[in-house]
Amino acid sequence: MKTAVIYYSFEGNCAKTAELLREALKADVYEIKTADTKKRTGFAKYAWGGSQVITRKKPELQPYSIDVNAYDLLILGTPVWAGSPAPAMVSFADKTKIAGKKIALFCCHAGGKGKAMDKFKALFPGNKLAGEIDFVNPASGNAGELKQKIAEWALNLTSS
Ligand SMILES: Cc1cc2nc3c(=O)[nH]c(=O)nc-3n(C[C@H](O)[C@H](O)[C@H](O)COP(=O)(O)O)c2cc1C
Repeated sequence: MKTAVIYYSFEGNCAKTAELLREALKADVYEIKTADTKKRTGFAKYAWGGSQVITRKKPELQPYSIDVNAYDLLILGTPVWAGSPAPAMVSFADKTKIAGKKIALFCCHAGGKGKAMDKFKALFPGNKLAGEIDFVNPASGNAGELKQKIAEWALNLTSS
């Protein structure tokens, strides 16, 4: 099964997850990047990111080329921002036609994902959802446990 992992990551957690999925599934991995690469920290980070969610801003992305139809399974990943998928993944969903595909979703959050997964799902209607999973700041957790959890999920996805 040919698998692609497509993700956005602001602080490395979704990137870490994508890397482990790449290892587990021999997947091709694509990072979605925003045109605005300025790093924000502290309160400014939450104010900047949260206001993008509230105003439904779809940030401009750096150019990418992904032939989604070349894959049997697309795994899409996002951080949770203000109880929603990060705006960059909303831009991605808007720009990229994904229909009639087998997809799986993951999100990374700090313990309060709210309805982010439901909202993430709603960005990709008309596809078959093979699985969904979320992680609490995986880059700073137990690496062995994370690897195990991802390997099990990956196995489920390829056998379903
Ligand atoms: C702007 C912003 C808003 C966030 N909002 C939430 C939130 O609503 N709930 C939550 O649990 N974590 C929230 N977080 C934390 C991230 O979802 C979490 O740290 C995640 O693991 C980050 O993934 P990344 O490292 O791939 O960017 C927020 C982070 C940022 C930068």
